[in-house]
Amino acid sequence: MNQNRPTFYLTTPIYYPSGKPHIGHAYSTVMADTIARYKRLRGFDVRFLTGLDEHGQKIERSAKAKEMEPIQYLNQLADTFLAVWKQYQIEYDDFIRTTEERHKKAVQTIFQKIWDNGDIYKSEYEGWYCTPCEAFWVERQLKEVDNQRLCPDCDRPVELVKEESYFFRMSKYQDRLLKHIEENPDFIQPTSRRNEMISFIKQGLEDLCVSRTTFKWGIPVPINENHVIYVWFDALSNYITALGYGSDDQELYQRYWPADVHLVGKDIVRFHTVIWPIILMALGEPLPKQVYGHGWFMLDSGKMSKSKGNVVDPVELANKYGVDAMRYYFAREMTAGQDAYYSEESLIGRINTDLANDIGNLLHRSLSMVERFSGGVVKKASPEAEGPLEKEIQALAEKVVHEYSTLMDKYDLSGAHGAIFKLVGRMNKYVDERAPWALNKKPEARAELEAVLYHMVESLRLAAILLKPVMPNIPQKIFAQLGIVDREDLQGWEGTLWGQFPDGVTVQKGEPLFPRIDPATLQGDAEAESSSPKVAKTEKKGKAAEQKMTDTKANDTVTTTVVPEGAAQSAIEATQPPTTEAVAENLPVMDPLLPEITIDDFAKVDLRVIEVVEAERVPKTEKLMQLKVKLGDETRTVVSGIAQYYTPEELVGKKLVLVANLKPAKLRGITSQGMILAASNNGVLEALTVTKDIPAGSRVK
Ligand code: ME8
Ligand code: MG
Repeated sequence: MNQNRPTFYLTTPIYYPSGKPHIGHAYSTVMADTIARYKRLRGFDVRFLTGLDEHGQKIERSAKAKEMEPIQYLNQLADTFLAVWKQYQIEYDDFIRTTEERHKKAVQTIFQKIWDNGDIYKSEYEGWYCTPCEAFWVERQLKEVDNQRLCPDCDRPVELVKEESYFFRMSKYQDRLLKHIEENPDFIQPTSRRNEMISFIKQGLEDLCVSRTTFKWGIPVPINENHVIYVWFDALSNYITALGYGSDDQELYQRYWPADVHLVGKDIVRFHTVIWPIILMALGEPLPKQVYGHGWFMLDSGKMSKSKGNVVDPVELANKYGVDAMRYYFAREMTAGQDAYYSEESLIGRINTDLANDIGNLLHRSLSMVERFSGGVVKKASPEAEGPLEKEIQALAEKVVHEYSTLMDKYDLSGAHGAIFKLVGRMNKYVDERAPWALNKKPEARAELEAVLYHMVESLRLAAILLKPVMPNIPQKIFAQLGIVDREDLQGWEGTLWGQFPDGVTVQKGEPLFPRIDPATLQGDAEAESSSPKVAKTEKKGKAAEQKMTDTKANDTVTTTVVPEGAAQSAIEATQPPTTEAVAENLPVMDPLLPEITIDDFAKVDLRVIEVVEAERVPKTEKLMQLKVKLGDETRTVVSGIAQYYTPEELVGKKLVLVANLKPAKLRGITSQGMILAASNNGVLEALTVTKDIPAGSRVK
């Protein structure tokens, strides 16, 4: 603890250890750890709390089902949770279990205080209870399907409860809470969740039942031993009991409360933005600054649940793909405020695209070129050798650092990590544009070549800093390969300013950062395995396999895909990214693959066979050809940049492929109603042609 630094306190939900952690739990915890590491990088005095919610009927029943004493059952699962967080390199500052003495005593103090203030009273409860959610409902809130009453949150049957209970006067605080939410737009984020909560509260708050008598596994009500405290009242309090609230030592509480953010899944935003703030109001304590409700990871088959047997195991995935890749996938895949679909295909897609193709390849080709063209030594760029492209890269780097930090400050991890890859993607293009292998052939271009190589390594250094919060290991490997592993001053937040890479450093090229994974391993496809013996040797083959994978995707579910032990390992491409050599020999280069889309995304593009009926060059242009094309009964005008590769005569009568539903665009004053498909690389272009007898107007899919 440093007295002068600003503090930052963040929390995850405390999970029910009613089974092993799944990828949903891992998601919340990785998100929190990434934010915690980011805030530490920015110089904050961070406190990061996570833990387990160990009381309640749900836990009592889970233990019984295993024929174990609750505490014995819980100790075993607590070890499992701790092991998973260790594997994922979660650096929490405190881990609270609600069965600990420090928590139980403090919760009783909280209950007593509110009782003394008159905001808790005794009455009779009659209503409905959902044990999986540990939530009370009144009749009008329930769903009814086939005469069965279901929980409106999780769709599972509710139970009728009638018992003597203590009640918490929540209704009294309704207006104050609404006012707080309306006056503090940041209190509930993202905004969509805020709007949901405002309308929920406006429907009216009931007083909350805060004790139970029909089971025993909970903290006794201090004034009546026949009752145990309602599990959400107990659980929510963890955020302050872990800081010593209600104990003799108030130091942590004074320092860190109110929390900067409680990260929670969207399922429990309601508990955190209604019950929790009202408990704090009744105690006269400040409210947390923000509750951030992230989306869910869904499966193609719907929600993950133990009863469906489709729970995805984060341990198995980290063993297979590595912790850094998994953490990056979590951070990148879930758009802020939305749900994400988990599939092993999308995970492999991310690894291959962003990590193997983009950053892995940029590092590999950069270091290969520094070795080949500069004896392995990076020279500081001389300002005279920098052209407009270099200025553009420097400006982009500055913009990306700014965008990354702005989005991280809003907990938009997906956006922030997307920003990093804007720089990485631009750099791969930059290398193609600046063609260092060509500069290397011109002795007079020496300074220019050195400047280009400098920009390549410097942008990698910046990207590695920005990846530190999400990836505990890979950035260190990048620094090592760049030859600056000992230079901590170049690895911190101050290091994100462009131009600090020192003159004369010798690079240390090493193993590829992220071996490309052959998606064929997922299918257990014997043919694919024999034709590309375990390892995807070329980029081309990798792409073909990826294509195939998306074709079969709809039928595949994650948990039914069995990968024989060791198979994934051997299927990981240990060879070097192929484009590097190609680049150095001035061979065709492949553009990085784009992020995965769904079949529905693709279906939006209307591709049609068209027949060219007239063609003429657009006057005063080199590249443009104006075409009249036939599409069924319709004739359209299309302008296409193919004039350098075809004569008008060659085109007339050809059947080509048109993007038919592209918004019309004006080119040199001519409205073009669609776009012709063409393949091009390294100075060669060919418009895609249909040679069989398929009439113009037919759909291309
Ligand atoms: O609700 N996708 O515990 P819990 C993303 N003990 N995140 C998910 C997820 C999914 N599919 N499934 C679960 C409880 N989560 C209470 C909390 S806090 C005072 C008490 C994450 O074990 C998400 O953060 O049911 C969700 O809020 C949490 O796990 C629920 O965990
Ligand atoms: Mg739950």
